[in-house]
Amino acid sequence: MENQPDITQANVDKLITVYGGSGFLGRHVIRALCKRGYRIRVAVRRPELAGHLQPLGRVGQIHAVQANLRYPRSVEAAARGADVVINLVGILFERGRQRFDAVQAFGAESVALAASAYGARMVHMSAIGADENAISSYARSKGIGEKLVLAARPAATVLRPSVVFGPEDDFLNRFASLARFAPALPLVGGGHTRFQPVYVGDVAAAVVAAVEGRTKAGSAYELGGPEVRTFKELMQYVLAVTERKRLLVSLPFAVAELQAWFLQFLPKPPLTPDQVELLKTDNVVSDAARREGRTLEALGIAATAMEAIAPTYLWRFRKSGQFKVKNGVT
Ligand SMILES: NC(=O)c1ccc[n+]([C@@H]2O[C@H](COP(=O)([O-])OP(=O)(O)OC[C@H]3O[C@@H](n4cnc5c(N)ncnc54)[C@H](OP(=O)(O)O)[C@@H]3O)[C@@H](O)[C@H]2O)c1
Repeated sequence: MENQPDITQANVDKLITVYGGSGFLGRHVIRALCKRGYRIRVAVRRPELAGHLQPLGRVGQIHAVQANLRYPRSVEAAARGADVVINLVGILFERGRQRFDAVQAFGAESVALAASAYGARMVHMSAIGADENAISSYARSKGIGEKLVLAARPAATVLRPSVVFGPEDDFLNRFASLARFAPALPLVGGGHTRFQPVYVGDVAAAVVAAVEGRTKAGSAYELGGPEVRTFKELMQYVLAVTERKRLLVSLPFAVAELQAWFLQFLPKPPLTPDQVELLKTDNVVSDAARREGRTLEALGIAATAMEAIAPTYLWRFRKSGQFKVKNGVT
């Protein structure tokens, strides 16, 4: 044991800038990197709101700075002196100047240009379905973003997860929360869309692999969990774990589009027409990615099952919370 180099000591001199580090994936990525000893510069729009990240590292290991991907100079300043830059910035709906292209396409390019200027390695978080010819603006901007990133930093690693689950996810939590008060849950397009939910800890492990040069330069890895499930099966799973009985109502795409048109004006819309468009395409790891070794398994990461994790945070949506009900008594 004595002869083994201490990996955390070896990494203390390496600085990693994480854009979008204050989000869901961000906290898990930062925790994984801190455990490996790296120094982290979190580049966020409001550094004063990134205090929740501090306990993930040692005193002084994480430092927050201001950067907005729509302002290339702030992006460049945040990359100064970094050995690696990681872009986790993304949005699910457009608001004001937060447009898909500005953030996910040209914003991503700014990060790649900054990485290139400082000779830093780059890891870019995209999404399965990223396609510059997609009808959905989210998927199209992700596709253009990937292209611009690889043009500016050809050795970058692109990671494309399917839907990501974990304690703070906006997917299983959202439906479990809805099931608390809604008498029925909607199955957009009949609920046939297929997903391959991937654990946030596994996505963070893939980021670490890319940071440490264990991915193929210039490649796009597709990250999926061990199982493919339809939207309907996922809803049934959430209802089973949260011990709720709810009607599952099939909602044809046209009806969902109409509903989403109205919902999109809410401050945090539960559904937008663009998201309905996304639901028309399966969200699973492609055969090409498997064949070419661009998967979690190829990185030596054993994908974690949803059953092993989701009940550990969905229990709070049960009527009885963490307690078992026996003969009608908790
Ligand atoms: N979660 C999933 O299921 C999933 C699946 C596939 C792909 N992805 C991708 O993974 C990445 C991270 O997702 P997530 O779930 O962690 O999202 P998230 O929780 O919404 O975090 C997104 C981050 O982006 C930041 N951000 C937004 N606009 C910005 C801007 N103009 N400049 C700088 N920062 C900005 C947010 O900070 P503010 O607090 O300033 O808004 C936040 O830190 C995204 O690219 C997403 O598309 C996620």
